[in-house]
Amino acid sequence: MTSDSYLSGLFSLNGQVAVVTGGSSGIGRGIAGALARAGASVVVVARREAELTATIEELKADGCRAAWVSADLSTRDGVRAAAEEAVAAFGEPDILVNSAGINLRPPMSELGEDVWDTTMAVNLEAPYLLGQRFGPKMAERGFGRIIHITSQQAHRAFVQSGAYGVSKGALESLARSQAEAWSPYGVTCNTLVPGFVMTPLNTRLSADPQQVAALAARTMVGRNGLAEDFAGAAVFLASRASAYVTGQALFVDGGLSVH
Ligand SMILES: NC(=O)c1ccc[n+]([C@@H]2O[C@H](COP(=O)([O-])OP(=O)(O)OC[C@H]3O[C@@H](n4cnc5c(N)ncnc54)[C@H](OP(=O)(O)O)[C@@H]3O)[C@@H](O)[C@H]2O)c1
Repeated sequence: MTSDSYLSGLFSLNGQVAVVTGGSSGIGRGIAGALARAGASVVVVARREAELTATIEELKADGCRAAWVSADLSTRDGVRAAAEEAVAAFGEPDILVNSAGINLRPPMSELGEDVWDTTMAVNLEAPYLLGQRFGPKMAERGFGRIIHITSQQAHRAFVQSGAYGVSKGALESLARSQAEAWSPYGVTCNTLVPGFVMTPLNTRLSADPQQVAALAARTMVGRNGLAEDFAGAAVFLASRASAYVTGQALFVDGGLSVH
């Protein structure tokens, strides 16, 4: 067997359909691009149309099959509509990536119910609802991959973890619950755990060179993360190669969590 066919047997996503929430920016955009270039037809879900169309145009220019859905994942109706619109593009997904997320960071004493509700809705409830919509059908078909993007704050509290840390901790538990339910039917469910990644989510921190250098020094690799750093791990977790990896949290953080 040639190395090309061996590698494609493990990692090719040809013929697969992927839905990537938050796929128009940052880590999600990096992952959407990786899955599409590995052969998947990718539907990117987020709110802002300009970012969505820019993402899809870039992928199509690279010869990829991609479509977008504009939806607000902070409401249950928005999530349901997004799921059906996503299916209309290329059919039922084999791969679901939940990267859409928000981090509002008020001090704990000032954390109101509005921030709590919105954080839980986008970061936790949307992944749950999309899992309920797509997971059982993946199980029926005998193959599926669910990948959530969590955070160091699922494991420890720092810089005002507040509702965000709670939502990410619960998201890791959701991955385990989904893994328990659907892994016997070929559907693996895992999380990718970033460190500090230079994306629009972190505009304020990224603008402070001292903070950026201090965070880079906390990694083992010696730099902060980039969206591209998630490409390989995402393709692995989306592919046949990861069939025996489920319920796990894979840290893509330059060693930050173990330094
Ligand atoms: N960057 C980091 O250092 C870091 C660290 C740990 C974990 N993470 C996690 O990684 C994931 C991606 O973060 P990122 O840094 O790539 O952030 P980002 O660049 O801000 O991207 C967030 C994405 O989510 C979408 N989104 C946000 N709210 C939405 C809503 N209500 N409905 C639909 N889409 C929505 C955004 O698009 P619209 O605004 O157009 O809707 C955008 O596409 C998040 O879950 C985040 O918590 C990031």
